[in-house]
Amino acid sequence: MAPLLQVEGVAKSFRGLRAVSDVSFAVEAKEIFGIIGPNGAGKTTLFNMIAGAFRPDRGQVQFDGRDITGFRPDKVCDAGIGRTFQIVQPFAELTVLENVTVGALHAHREVAAARLAAADCLDLLELGHRRHMHASNLTLPDRKRLEVARALATGPKLILLDEVMAGLRPTETDRMVVILQRLRAEAGLTIVLIEHVMRAVMALSDRVMVLHHGEKIAEGKPEAVVRDPAVLTSYLGGAAV
Ligand SMILES: Nc1ncnc2c1ncn2[C@@H]1O[C@H](COP(=O)(O)OP(=O)(O)OP(=O)(O)O)[C@@H](O)[C@H]1O
Ligand SMILES: [Mg+2]
Repeated sequence: MAPLLQVEGVAKSFRGLRAVSDVSFAVEAKEIFGIIGPNGAGKTTLFNMIAGAFRPDRGQVQFDGRDITGFRPDKVCDAGIGRTFQIVQPFAELTVLENVTVGALHAHREVAAARLAAADCLDLLELGHRRHMHASNLTLPDRKRLEVARALATGPKLILLDEVMAGLRPTETDRMVVILQRLRAEAGLTIVLIEHVMRAVMALSDRVMVLHHGEKIAEGKPEAVVRDPAVLTSYLGGAAV
């Protein structure tokens, strides 16, 4: 069977600076695929090329049997890819339920149906009891889960998560890990996550890819990748994981 997502030789430069060079990888349906690498390695830029924020200078993105290279963000979303943003950006003046309903309106025309779907997503993210709060009043762990709920509400087959565990305490990280495992098991979701929190990467990922200076330097099972000499020197700083 063809992979759900296949990225082939994508590259992106900003004013001559190569942010991503010739990166290829493939993700199978229902896989959890981790992307790690130092700050500035090109991880978010790679997501932006998949999600349609930037068109790749070169290369292709295939999803669910279609070429989606250069699709605009709303078309990528329609194709079945949801995403979160590294800098969380809820509508602060809207309630939690309203924020997620905005996402659900991608998949549902009727507001009532969107609101119901949004409530389901909130329950999956353990945010049901916060639905009438203003997003601006949420704690960081709740805001991170709101961000995932908003992406989930668009009805994706695959979700791109950009550092949804950054800044969380270990107990909150573990809670997010359990929630994401449940999304895969119960909702059949495929997950690609960028993450610095190695505890979460190791617990969740079936496979991990390492980016460094815009290039893929390793890919494989998490236990093997963290022992790879190139990864140890360039990213993990020689620390045993
Ligand atoms: N819109 C942009 N305009 C100009 N340069 C950019 C833009 N987006 C990213 N870059 C540059 O591209 C390189 C890769 O950035 P990117 O945000 O993809 O890294 P990252 O791996 O996500 O890092 P971090 O772990 O800090 O989030 C960096 O040098 C960054 O400054
Ligand atoms: Mg980033």
